[in-house]
Amino acid sequence: MAEPVVLLEGVRKSYGDKVVTEVLKGVDLRVDRGEFAALVGPSGSGKSTLLNLLGLLDRPTSGRLAIAGEETAGLDDAGLTRLRGHAIGFVFQFHHLLPGLSAAENVMMPMIAREGRTAKAMVPRAVALLDRVGLAGRADALPSALSGGQQQRVAIARALALGPPLVLADEPTGNLDTRTADQIFDVLREFNRELGVAFLIVTHDPRLAARCDRTIDLVDGAIVSDRRRTAEGAAPHR
Ligand SMILES: Nc1ncnc2c1ncn2[C@@H]1O[C@H](COP(=O)(O)OP(=O)(O)O)[C@@H](O)[C@H]1O
Ligand SMILES: [Mg+2]
Repeated sequence: MAEPVVLLEGVRKSYGDKVVTEVLKGVDLRVDRGEFAALVGPSGSGKSTLLNLLGLLDRPTSGRLAIAGEETAGLDDAGLTRLRGHAIGFVFQFHHLLPGLSAAENVMMPMIAREGRTAKAMVPRAVALLDRVGLAGRADALPSALSGGQQQRVAIARALALGPPLVLADEPTGNLDTRTADQIFDVLREFNRELGVAFLIVTHDPRLAARCDRTIDLVDGAIVSDRRRTAEGAAPHR
């Protein structure tokens, strides 16, 4: 089997100099290619902190972190940026689209950032991604002309722009009504099933967590349960 997309061993994260708060207290986690997993837990338990580490936006205080088979401990900031660029897509609760750019231009942003310039081939690729998330014909629309659910679809297309093996989503439906949340969830699931992209999705919604193949429960900075669902129903993970 290919190397896991996420491998954490004994990862700890503390904040502060004088008063040190340990937020992650020794996390072991493996996520394989093609997994579709929910990360749940009470507010303040460290979910966003963990996602920031996995997304290489911040570094562990100690422990091992490998992404897509690459150890991160020895990487400098440029190395982290390169690895992030090819391995990880992000979807946040708020879409963070650039308001002055069209849907297609927003989707092209990661491509432009990587290449250091625009290229003609980026446009059809962005349009194809927008088609895929259900926004055929809206490539030229500004974010302000789109609904909340449509804006989040653009953000998903942008997250997939460089074809990463892993997408990290921090409460991607937290800002949406139930029906729209379900539709957005379906879009993520489709990318997972059709392209084998692994997803780790932070959600407060037990209904959505139940639709994932695996539920990882973080409480007070530690994983207290990690269950995979099988055809026969919920089963303990290993
Ligand atoms: N940059 C930071 N500096 C200090 N404390 C932080 C920082 N980020 C998060 N924390 C603290 O870490 C804990 C976990 O936060 P967070 O990861 O956002 O939890 P969750 O996403 O599960 O709600 C909280 O007590 C929060 O106050
Ligand atoms: Mg959070």
